[in-house]
Amino acid sequence: MNKKLAENQAISQNEYLSLTAELMAIRKRGDEPLAFVRTYGCQQNVADSERIKGMLDKAGFSFTENVEEADFILFNTCAVREHAEDRVFGNVGALKNIKRKHPSVLIALCGCMMEQEHVAQRIHDSFPFVGLVFGTNCLHEFPKLLYNSLLYGKRQFLRGVTDENVYEGIPIKRDGNFKGFLPIMYGCDNFCSYCIVPYVRGREKSRRPEVVIEEAREMINSGYKDICLLGQNVNSYGKGLEPRPNFASLLKEIDKIEGDYWLRFMTSHPKDCTKELIDTIADSKHISHHLHLPFQCGSNKILDLMNRRYTREKYLEIIKYAKERIPDLSLTSDIIVGFPGETYEDFQETLDLIKEVEFTSLFTFIYSRRKGTPAAQMEDVATDEEKSKWFRELLKVQEEIAAKRCATMVGTVQKVLVEEKCSNKDGILNGRTTGNIIVEFAGDESLIGSFINIKITKARNWILNGEQIKE
Ligand code: SAH
Ligand code: SF4
Ligand code: F3S
Repeated sequence: MNKKLAENQAISQNEYLSLTAELMAIRKRGDEPLAFVRTYGCQQNVADSERIKGMLDKAGFSFTENVEEADFILFNTCAVREHAEDRVFGNVGALKNIKRKHPSVLIALCGCMMEQEHVAQRIHDSFPFVGLVFGTNCLHEFPKLLYNSLLYGKRQFLRGVTDENVYEGIPIKRDGNFKGFLPIMYGCDNFCSYCIVPYVRGREKSRRPEVVIEEAREMINSGYKDICLLGQNVNSYGKGLEPRPNFASLLKEIDKIEGDYWLRFMTSHPKDCTKELIDTIADSKHISHHLHLPFQCGSNKILDLMNRRYTREKYLEIIKYAKERIPDLSLTSDIIVGFPGETYEDFQETLDLIKEVEFTSLFTFIYSRRKGTPAAQMEDVATDEEKSKWFRELLKVQEEIAAKRCATMVGTVQKVLVEEKCSNKDGILNGRTTGNIIVEFAGDESLIGSFINIKITKARNWILNGEQIKE
C-alpha cells in the first residue's frame, strides 16, 4: 500500500477540519455549530459514523438529537433491503422543509445506498436540497468535501471510489464508553447472490494487525469492557496483507492484552469458519462464548442458489465441534425466508435446522430483491402471503427455543456487563451475559459499565431476571 500518500492525505484533511471550524464559527445558527448524524443499517455503518463524528468533532461541531436545530445534517444509509431504503427516502423527503426554513443548513447523505447508481441519480434529480453525497470508500475525503460544500455551496457527489489503500489516523468519536466496535476489515468478496454489500462496499481490504491491536489496547486502557471486531467476513481477515495474518492469530494477539474485558466479533462466514477459530475461542481468556454464524437457509438447493459455498451438513459439523469445545456457547444466526425458488419443503429444512441447533436468538429477514444482484433475476415460487406465513411460523418456533434455552439458565451464576437503566422500571438495570443474553436485576446506576455476578432467578422468554451476588 502507498503509506506515504495515506499519511499526506491525513495531514491535509486535518487542515480542512481547522478551516471548517473557522468557517462554522461565523456560519453557526445558534451558540455553537451543531451536527445531526443518523445511522441506518449494520455495525459497519455505526463504526463509519463514529469516524465521521470524530472528524466533525475536530471541526468544532457539537452534536444534537434535534434535527431542527442542526447546521449540518447527515444520514448514513443502508441498502441491504428495500424497506431500509424506503425509510431513508421518506426521512430525506422530510428534510426539505428544514432547508426551506434555514437555507444555510447543509444536508448530506452517505453510506451504502449512495453507491448505487440509480439511487444517486434519484437523489440528484429529485432531492435538490441535498448538498453533499459521498460513498463508502471515501470517508478520508470527508473533511475536504465538507469544507468545500460549506464554502462554495455547490452540490458535490463523490462515489464509486475504488481504492485499495486503508486510511488510518481518522479521529473517532465512539457512541459508548464501555462497549465499542473495532473494524478490522472493509468490503466483501463473497457475492452471495441476494446481497448488495459487495457492490456498495467494494472489495475486501484488511487493516494491518499492529494497527488493530494498538486500537484494541487503547480501548481496553480507556475502560472499554466489550469490544466487537467488525468485518463482513472476519474469517478471511488478512487477505492482501504481507505477511498474511489470519483471524485466529489476530484474536490470540488481542486476547493477550491484560485487563477485564470481553472480545467479540462479527460476522463469521460458515464456509471458512475453522476449527482453529473455535479452539481459539475455547482456549482464550477474553473471547465471549458467543458465535454469530449466519446460515441463511437450511436447504442445500437454496444455499447453492445463494452462492453460500457450504452445505447444511458442513454447517452442522462446525456447530457440533463448537458445542463440544465450548459447552456454554451461545449461538446466533441470520436467516432469509422466501429466497427465489424456495418451497415450503426447503423452508421446513430451515425449521429443522434451528430446532437441531437451538440458537439463543435469530435475526430473521424476508428476502428482498436487490437490483444488480444475480438473485434479482431468479424466479419466485412462493407468494408474498406464503412467505409472511412461513416467517411467522419461524418466529414462533424460535420463541419456544429461546424460552427453553433461557429456562435452563435459572439457578446459574452469570457474569454480566451492566448496560443501562430499564426504561419504565424504577431501580431496575439490565446487562448482558457473555452469550449476549439480556439480564434484568435491581441495582444502582453506578454499576453501569462494570461487570458483576448475577444469580439467575427467572426466565421470561428470551430475557433473564436475577439478583446481584455481593462479593
Ligand atoms: N456479512 C454478513 C451479513 C451482512 S448483511 C454475513 O454474511 O453474514 C446481514 C444480513 O442481512 C445477512 O446475513 C442476510 O441474512 C440479510 N440480507 C442480506 N441481503 C438480503 C436481502 N437481499 N434480503 C433479505 N435479507 C438480506
Ligand atoms: Fe453479503 Fe454474503 Fe458478503 Fe455477507 S458474506 S456481506 S451476505 S455477500
Ligand atoms: Fe446495510 Fe451497508 Fe451494512 S448495506 S447492512 S449498512 S454494509
